[in-house]
Amino acid sequence: MIPSHKAEITFFEVILGRRSVRNYQAKRVGKISISSLLEAAVRAPTAMHQEPWAFVIINDKKTLKSLSDLAKPLIIAKAKLNPTELNQNMKELFDNPDFNIFYDAGTLIIICGKTDSPFYSADCWLAAENMMLAACAMGLGSCVVENALPALNLNDVKAQLKISDKYTAVAPIIIGYPNQENTATTRNAPVILTQIAPN
Ligand SMILES: Cc1cc2nc3c(=O)[nH]c(=O)nc-3n(C[C@H](O)[C@H](O)[C@H](O)COP(=O)(O)O)c2cc1C
Repeated sequence: MIPSHKAEITFFEVILGRRSVRNYQAKRVGKISISSLLEAAVRAPTAMHQEPWAFVIINDKKTLKSLSDLAKPLIIAKAKLNPTELNQNMKELFDNPDFNIFYDAGTLIIICGKTDSPFYSADCWLAAENMMLAACAMGLGSCVVENALPALNLNDVKAQLKISDKYTAVAPIIIGYPNQENTATTRNAPVILTQIAPN
């Protein structure tokens, strides 16, 4: 049984304290921590109890740098299809050979979804949020790097990462020890379209 007020406060502290971390220490994330993150991920709700997720864990900065280098021209090409997405700052950033889309994090966990499962995308994103909240509770930082997806879903890259044809990469999440103050970003107040109460 989950009791106490204290647990509730801790839970909300995690929700309110989580933020996307883009600056990491060199310290590696250990195997036990990664197991805990995966355990949190697979506890997410899953439509029709299908559990359509599977995970790729990359703990090698060299591999991450080469994936980042592969991803950058694809990001620019994709953004050119929708010019409102591509501004000059973005172009300069992705053209810069020193810019790493994984922000030099030591670990990337890619949540992959089984595409024959009708709600695989929703399930994977719920697993992603569980994982990021667990990371925050464990003193780890995280950030979704959706920009990596065009590269991660290239046939050659899927083969390299042993992502079979049944799966697609859905949620790439970097993990590491933050090298920044963990001040959460702000949000607008919830927009309530309708609230119906009994008369
Ligand atoms: C679907 C999705 C894709 C995202 N992709 C990227 C990304 O490619 N690179 C990045 O730096 N941040 C990415 N983010 C992080 C958002 O920029 C971040 O969540 C947002 O600015 C709010 O900040 P916060 O997470 O610190 O509250 C992504 C977030 C989501 C939910």
